[in-house]
Amino acid sequence: MTITTAGTNTEDIAYHYDLGNDFYALWLDETLAYTAAKWDGIPRGEPDALALPRAQRAKLDHHLDLVGADPGAGLRLLDIGCGWGAMLEHASRGGRAAGITGLTISRAQHEFLTARALPGVEARLESWEDHEPARPYDAVVGMGSFEHFATAGMSRAERLGVYARYFEACHRWLRPGGRMSLQTIAYDGAADGSGPLGEFVGSDIFPNARLPRLSEIAAACDPYFSVVALTASAEDYARTLASWSARLLRAREEAERLVGAEGYRRYRRYLRGSEVTFLRGAATLYRIGFRRRDEPLRLPA
Ligand SMILES: C[S@@+](CC[C@H](N)C(=O)[O-])C[C@H]1O[C@@H](n2cnc3c(N)ncnc32)[C@H](O)[C@@H]1O
Repeated sequence: MTITTAGTNTEDIAYHYDLGNDFYALWLDETLAYTAAKWDGIPRGEPDALALPRAQRAKLDHHLDLVGADPGAGLRLLDIGCGWGAMLEHASRGGRAAGITGLTISRAQHEFLTARALPGVEARLESWEDHEPARPYDAVVGMGSFEHFATAGMSRAERLGVYARYFEACHRWLRPGGRMSLQTIAYDGAADGSGPLGEFVGSDIFPNARLPRLSEIAAACDPYFSVVALTASAEDYARTLASWSARLLRAREEAERLVGAEGYRRYRRYLRGSEVTFLRGAATLYRIGFRRRDEPLRLPA
């Protein structure tokens, strides 16, 4: 089966996400969410074992609120880039969606999700670029996958082309009036991934991935969606990374057993370095809510 992706290729996805489900479970919290949590109102002194899952569930609820997935509404929901299933489980358990489809292009994640067999959930080893649903969805969410849709070698025009295809596809899959949400890291300020830390992350952690800028997302979505909510919080990612990093430190012995001393050091450097990137304002985190336009707009080039 072929997996089509103009962005991060399947080998580079496997290099990162197939490093070992047990390794990621060591330092992610019980939800297995691998994107920034939402920390509003969670006191700094609250024990991490309670605080991180609470902040992750607050993030998941925020996205479900953005797409109007009220309990009992029975929405058909698509999660693009579903990871180890944090949203799939949360939406299914909380009765906030009735039929849930998750897409991932990581084989390890897909095997994990297949074994989990969450009720009302279909996990597919499939790129959004190959997805063709039999029926329209009521809502679409995507958290932490958009960063993989373009590669470092692409020009701005090429990135805009891929992003526009993404929004066009989501528009096609949604019913009239359907809602969508997106959570993504983006460059802020003048940063574009150059510099020692950016180069380390781009070669040793996330090869062949490229962050968007807000202006690119805005230009690409405009014909298909109107933006109904937008928040930016570099702090949310910095605090999540600090929590992951501390958990990995506490689990050092087991982590080294699973991925070796070099793997452990690499991940500690990535988590701590990325925290600094957010604290310095070189990158930020956006959460964006969209409403589908009835007809795509024809905008001047
Ligand atoms: C950082 S993880 C985020 C996982 C999950 N959304 C969460 O919040 O825990 C990125 C996910 O995007 C997926 N992904 C990357 N490129 C993709 C593509 N072209 N189509 C579908 N999923 C993709 C990866 O397989 C992975 O599951």
